[in-house]
Amino acid sequence: MRALLIGSKGQLGSDLRRVWSGELISLPHDDIDVCNRDRVFAVLSRERPELVINCAAYHRVDELESNVLRAFEVNAVGAKNVADAAREADAAVMWISTDYVFDGEKGTPYVETDLPRPLSVYGASKLAGEHLVRQSNPKHYVVRSSSLFGVAGASGKGGNFVETMIRKAREGEPLRVVDDQTSSPTLTLDLAEKLQELAGTSRYGLYHVTNSGQVSWFHFAARIFELCGLSPSMTSMSTDELAAPARRPRFSVMENAALKSIGIEQARSWQDALEAYLREKGHLKAAATPA
Ligand SMILES: NC(=O)c1ccc[n+]([C@@H]2O[C@H](COP(=O)([O-])OP(=O)(O)OC[C@H]3O[C@@H](n4cnc5c(N)ncnc54)[C@H](OP(=O)(O)O)[C@@H]3O)[C@@H](O)[C@H]2O)c1
Repeated sequence: MRALLIGSKGQLGSDLRRVWSGELISLPHDDIDVCNRDRVFAVLSRERPELVINCAAYHRVDELESNVLRAFEVNAVGAKNVADAAREADAAVMWISTDYVFDGEKGTPYVETDLPRPLSVYGASKLAGEHLVRQSNPKHYVVRSSSLFGVAGASGKGGNFVETMIRKAREGEPLRVVDDQTSSPTLTLDLAEKLQELAGTSRYGLYHVTNSGQVSWFHFAARIFELCGLSPSMTSMSTDELAAPARRPRFSVMENAALKSIGIEQARSWQDALEAYLREKGHLKAAATPA
């Protein structure tokens, strides 16, 4: 399958480039801006892909609270530009959304049919993007994932949670980590592999794709330190104490129901994914590294 990847230098884009088995045209932000509708149409009509994977996003969640226009420009209008241009080129579109479309009040894992209710501008802009992609192009895969970490680090966020924790611990900074937000941390390499599987099905629709299991940020950090042999001073804190500009869901674990319904297994546990990540990055303490 001839696929075209937008946002190719990001965290997920980098892993898609590593795992993709078919032909892949990779376009970083410098080459294509999803907000430039004419350029998006020109590139897609020239390249004629069968699938367009759009990883472009503006996702500095707190910053977006005071930058609503830009949030919707990239995450909603930009998503529609790509979905429209893909439809015109008779291509399918794959676009990545987020667990932040939910309010976190359900208390059990969300399924694709649960009603979203975003708490933040970011979540609202991504939900608008979901609607626009689904409305624009019948051949769509809208894929929600959560708490991504990958070897490239999120370019839009200046890294990822795992690297931030390790850096702070090594610098001897006392850590306070939120213990009342629970999600399924997801390795972008595993997500990329599932996206590849999904792309081969032509089973268009809305999907949740995450690593298995769930954990709070505090316990996620604790496991990172355990695997790296680090013992920083760390205390738990509540979301209210953190008082971040953007509200976040307390519990945003997502059942991968639609994925399983078409016969694709959910990705491995977040624990196994984390260990694989730390091993690849050379962070794993010696005792945890196989001989
Ligand atoms: N990171 C998470 O925890 C998380 C969780 C759930 C869902 N998601 C979603 O997963 C997707 C991938 O996230 P990620 O972690 O891989 O993010 P990332 O590393 O920040 O990658 C996003 C890429 O998009 C590019 N980009 C930004 N604005 C663009 C524009 N207007 N036109 C074209 N390209 C643009 C960025 O380039 P520059 O950096 O050069 O601007 C970057 O290479 C996003 O849709 C995000 O919303 C992320």
